[in-house]
Amino acid sequence: MYRTHTCGELRLSDAGKTVTLAGWVQRTRDLGGMTFVDLRDRYGITQLTFNTDSDAALRETARSLGREFVVQVIGKVMERQSKNANMPTGEVEIFATALKVMNAAKTPPFTIEDETDGGDELRMKYRYLDLRRNTVRKGIELRHRMAIEVRNYLSAQQFIEVETPVLIKSTPEGARDFVVPSRMNQGEFYALPQSPQTFKQLLMVAGMDRYFQIVKCFRDEDLRSDRQPEFTQIDCEMAFVEREDILNTFEGLAKHLFKAVLDKEFAEPFRRMSYDDAMRDYGCDKPDLRFDMRFHELNDIAQGKEFKVFDDAELVVGIKAEGCASWSRKQTDALIEYVKRPQVGGTGIIFVRWAAEGLKSTVDKFYGAEDLQRWAERFNMKEGDLLCIMAGAADKTRKALNELRLHLGDLLNLRDPQVFKPLWVVDFPLLEKDEVSGRWHAMHHPFTAPIPEDAPKLESDPGTVKANAYDLVINGTEIGGGSIRIHDRAMQEAMFRVLGFTDEEAREKFGFLLDAFEFGAPPHGGAAFGFDRWVALFGGRSDIREFIAFPKNNAGRDVMIDAPSTIDAIQLKELGLELKN
Ligand code: AMO
Repeated sequence: MYRTHTCGELRLSDAGKTVTLAGWVQRTRDLGGMTFVDLRDRYGITQLTFNTDSDAALRETARSLGREFVVQVIGKVMERQSKNANMPTGEVEIFATALKVMNAAKTPPFTIEDETDGGDELRMKYRYLDLRRNTVRKGIELRHRMAIEVRNYLSAQQFIEVETPVLIKSTPEGARDFVVPSRMNQGEFYALPQSPQTFKQLLMVAGMDRYFQIVKCFRDEDLRSDRQPEFTQIDCEMAFVEREDILNTFEGLAKHLFKAVLDKEFAEPFRRMSYDDAMRDYGCDKPDLRFDMRFHELNDIAQGKEFKVFDDAELVVGIKAEGCASWSRKQTDALIEYVKRPQVGGTGIIFVRWAAEGLKSTVDKFYGAEDLQRWAERFNMKEGDLLCIMAGAADKTRKALNELRLHLGDLLNLRDPQVFKPLWVVDFPLLEKDEVSGRWHAMHHPFTAPIPEDAPKLESDPGTVKANAYDLVINGTEIGGGSIRIHDRAMQEAMFRVLGFTDEEAREKFGFLLDAFEFGAPPHGGAAFGFDRWVALFGGRSDIREFIAFPKNNAGRDVMIDAPSTIDAIQLKELGLELKN
């Protein structure tokens, strides 16, 4: 037997027992006659003690232990003289009587401590060492706990977990597909699923009624801190439901997770906001509601006063930073620098401050006290506040002001990771136009149904059709989204036509689904939640990689196993592939 106990479980009540422990050496300390070894495993750290009463050879072995050596120790549990209240095992130590080195270890390339000296790339290259660190391991444990709670809740709601295939045909979710060449069908390729969308709909046609799956999805898209090329969804679908049934079910899931994992309760129903309101009031479809700082438009009271920047603008819009009237020139210049960054795309900011001497703006040449007073009223501004106003093309200006709002939220500490503000965003447009190609794209995906009253306009006036779709947004992160689906062949065909598919293309790509709709497809709908994002949100971090055991880096590489990599000539030949260079 390798061990009788873990390194995290011995307490004062165990004093006197003879135990066997196994684990990794966190550190050794040699203090004159005493040698202490901290032995670590997943469960905790236990102190081993060797003193002048110990066998000399045993003490020598203890002194020679390096960091991360794997050892087994037999000894007696003793009450510690100087107790450590910071660790659960801090009242005891093991007086060792036998010590065996099971495996030596090289000095790790970074310290296995909560605050490590290892940089990102090094940590990822030796991810198995990184995972030994408490902070990283806790993230993986949180992920496990959440997965269990997802399964508990959904199983209790009659959902069954069904696995869907990974070698499939393209499912359009707006990204590029990863493809896999077929050896047995040369010249043909599988696509890895961007989501199990079509399969879960087929499971509804199959009468499964309620399906879920905690499932890997694959998307070849540019990476960010909240995006990985392979990531995990909590994917769900339900038959015989309307939007309200779905929102209730998954609001229930969210509330269950909040309660079971974070012990947080939400007495009120989650807020709901239409896409149009979100865009108007926050300039984005996933507003962070931990702080207000709403947009207010000023076109009607700021234009026509000879100030060209405002007069030429499609939109003049601002936000109020409470208590920031005293900000220095340096601070406001930094805000201007911030919005001018290419990622933000702003052109500048006009400031209005309400200081002790009254309202003052950076455009006092064009606007008198009365004008500024009207602006101040619109924002319900008080003495001490600062207005930040931007102007330009509507979409671009909203986007830039949204970035500024979030930036101010960070600067003013208004985005506390312990505070959670869930929101359903509803009534999305069904389609958006690609300005370059002039083609319509599905904003969600092509299987999303229009809201019933807009269905007749689908082909005649597609731009005004609202989708029966919804997103769950928490603290400015899109945690999930879904929709009521089209379940009628004719409407699905119409949708494909609007998206510019010929009938033949539609049949070739999605004939299986169109056919299925002719064999008794029930009305259905569902949603999928980004599991990595949800775990990261609960873990209080924005980088989902911290909660994935073996993530990819920003270039889509796994630097530990060195993937992707080339394949040899024989393999290429078997696949019927030839590389150009
Ligand atoms: P959607 O494309 O909105 O919907 O994806 C659902 C959720 O998955 C998460 N997500 C990601 N997480 C990490 N890395 C990525 N690259 C990534 N892409 C998406 C987000 C997102 O909200 N089939 C539909 C759902 C449905 O209609 O039922 C779908 O996949 O949190």
